Amino acid sequence: CIIQKLIQGKKMKIKFINFEIKGDERVSLIAIEELKNIPFEIKRVYYIFNTKPNVRRGFHAHKNLKQVAICVKGSCKFLLDNGKERIDEIVLNKPNKGLLIEEMIWREMYDFSEDCVLLVLASEFYDESDYIRDYEEFVRMVEGVKK
Ligand code: TYD
Repeated sequence: CIIQKLIQGKKMKIKFINFEIKGDERVSLIAIEELKNIPFEIKRVYYIFNTKPNVRRGFHAHKNLKQVAICVKGSCKFLLDNGKERIDEIVLNKPNKGLLIEEMIWREMYDFSEDCVLLVLASEFYDESDYIRDYEEFVRMVEGVKK
């Protein structure tokens, strides 16, 4: 499946998920359900907050992990890179907008607002061996899969 995506050599697409806002005049509510509005089983949820100004995080890809990132408060930006193309300045600033980050995508996050709470839904438990933290190695792996 990963191999297929890389071979196709299509232009990199950013995949957003727009969550339906429920509730009424008193409250807004978003419900997240695995395999319904999230395209995988959710094994882990974490959130990033209290990020200091000018901090850039991420700098890794995952071999298998899929994630959906939702900025439930404040704003932040993403850079995504599939080893051939990169898209910068992807803004997350709405609690009803999710960014799908599939396997073998390099990501960096930056420009966190002081109040930013970035919620991340993940398809796997935390596993350090799934991380690729070296960009050159990541590109080599993408190139290797293509051959
Ligand atoms: P890290 O992956 O370095 O954060 P980021 O890439 O977003 O800057 O994670 C920071 C720390 O938290 C690191 O010590 C690993 C730990 N951690 C967990 O224990 N479980 C998790 O699910 C995540 C994402 C991180």
